[in-house]
Amino acid sequence: MQARHRLTFRSDHGGDPAAWRAFADLLHDTFGIDITILDALGGPDPTLAPFGWFDAAGTCVASLCAFSIPLVIGGTFVRGAGLQSGAVRPQWRRQGLFRDLIGAALNHCAAEGFEAVTLLTDTPALYTPFGFRPLPLYRFEGPPPSRGATAGARPLDLRNDADITLLRRLLDARRPVADRFAPLRQVEMFLFNAALSPDIRLAFMEDSTAAIAWRTGDGGLFDLVDIAGPTIPPLADILAALDLSPTRIVTRFSPDHLDWQGKAVAESDRLTLMMRGAEALIPPHPFGLSPLAEF
Ligand SMILES: CC(C)(COP(=O)(O)OP(=O)(O)OC[C@H]1O[C@@H](n2cnc3c(N)ncnc32)[C@H](O)[C@@H]1OP(=O)(O)O)[C@@H](O)C(=O)NCCC(=O)NCCS
Repeated sequence: MQARHRLTFRSDHGGDPAAWRAFADLLHDTFGIDITILDALGGPDPTLAPFGWFDAAGTCVASLCAFSIPLVIGGTFVRGAGLQSGAVRPQWRRQGLFRDLIGAALNHCAAEGFEAVTLLTDTPALYTPFGFRPLPLYRFEGPPPSRGATAGARPLDLRNDADITLLRRLLDARRPVADRFAPLRQVEMFLFNAALSPDIRLAFMEDSTAAIAWRTGDGGLFDLVDIAGPTIPPLADILAALDLSPTRIVTRFSPDHLDWQGKAVAESDRLTLMMRGAEALIPPHPFGLSPLAEF
């Protein structure tokens, strides 16, 4: 175990390339993810507030970030924040570094006036002492609607700068994909998750100005992951635009705007969504969360 009094607490490393690199290294070493791919997708979230502990050599040994994630909960706009990138290097664990970072992040959220703070985790026990409560996620399953009619869709490719620009524009102007629970603005994580998920396909429905994210699965499954744009086309039109005739449908968000109903099924294999905020802000169940909105 190393002595924590030799460490420096920082919250300015978003603007310091060497310290940002050290932060990226911590995430790579802890989770095996490379956040520098965000550079090719338009850069990190401008609302990101990073908190971290650094040693004398400039190594980032502990981190946690807060960011703005405006939400729609039960049809109402909520000033939401998210916490992500919680990591402590093994030799620095169990000394209270993470506890201090959560304190700093929650103080920041309070000072900024965020009404709800959310996170996704595989260790909910870590966060319940800080007032976070788990919220079960659901997917929605059912038979396909009868096929609609529409003008088709073209594939979007994240290696193409023009397609990235189009997606950013659609995400900036998006209608929340569901009323019960959905992020309103979350451009960077959508692009980052899409870049890391080769099984998720993206297409642009020009006539309804909407990007569709989906994947297919065994047994004629159409798995609707997300929709980004100012309008939400009905599911029947989406299937027609993609020229697909599936035998069963799954949506990863409550299908409030799809002109289609599905049965809610608990998603027990996902990370746990947790929220800290007033009781009145707990979303009406059942609701889902697009895998492209995970953070
Ligand atoms: C989880 C992690 C961030 C904790 O960092 P840490 O600096 O060792 O944590 P702290 O010493 O500040 O401990 C804070 C509290 O959390 C508890 N805690 C620590 N690790 C925990 C775990 N894995 N599960 C449950 N509780 C845990 C501690 O007991 C402590 O509570 P206490 O003060 O009541 O004893 C660190 O172990 C880590 O980086 N793990 C791998 C990455 C990870 O899982 N990140 C979280 C993803 S959401």
